[in-house]
Amino acid sequence: MNQNRSHAVMSQRFEPLDSLDDFPTPPWATRALLEYGIGDKRALSRMSCLEPACGAGHMATVLGEYFGQVFSSDIYDHGHGTLADFLQMNCQKQSVDWVVTNPPFRLAEEFVLRALEVARKGVAIIARTVFLESVGRYERLYRDHPPARFMQFTERVPIVRGRLDGKISTATGYAWLVWEMDCSHLYTECAWIPPCRKLLERPGDYDNRVKMSFSDDPATRGPGK
Ligand SMILES: C[S@@+](CC[C@H](N)C(=O)[O-])C[C@H]1O[C@@H](n2cnc3c(N)ncnc32)[C@H](O)[C@@H]1O
Repeated sequence: MNQNRSHAVMSQRFEPLDSLDDFPTPPWATRALLEYGIGDKRALSRMSCLEPACGAGHMATVLGEYFGQVFSSDIYDHGHGTLADFLQMNCQKQSVDWVVTNPPFRLAEEFVLRALEVARKGVAIIARTVFLESVGRYERLYRDHPPARFMQFTERVPIVRGRLDGKISTATGYAWLVWEMDCSHLYTECAWIPPCRKLLERPGDYDNRVKMSFSDDPATRGPGK
């Protein structure tokens, strides 16, 4: 029996080219960014944030626990936020303080480059650790836009297609990458997110029902509109 279960193989997740790449983020993993990765979290309550690939809102809802204002959008109607293709949407430059998301993996570079135009203060994405690799990605993204911080999860983040599931395990490593506009850094800081899942999980986090938030008000047309 061919049981090739090396980490290198298990870390890959092949998606059809036209896939929406719908892999919701467990809420504790988003809280980890806000608790350990973004600086003074009290200041966030005076800031705005765009989640431009919000899916069913599992990340956007947590962002609403910290940011004063959250705009949510997605190219597909998963039941949360407004409908918009982030790579095409008419969004003014520097129109929100932060852009935070778990982008579709195959478009993650394009998402970061677009987000760096839209955000005033910073951009953060959660991505598989292997997103750090490749000459092409270095040339297209990291050479001219090195992140301020790379934060590796020490615990595995159970991310699966189409639903939250707190009971599954995964062989895939994840990290937060954070870009900050107001610091010119020569090097990317590397840090480890301490074990925090137990601390940051809340009752109801794994309800897969769609959660609506104030930012889903149809009157809220998104940033810079
Ligand atoms: C990895 S899921 C993340 C969902 C959500 N951010 C979360 O963390 O729970 C990626 C999402 O990107 C959306 N998406 C794919 N292409 C997009 C595009 N061009 N513009 C906006 N959203 C897109 C998909 O519909 C999907 O909901």
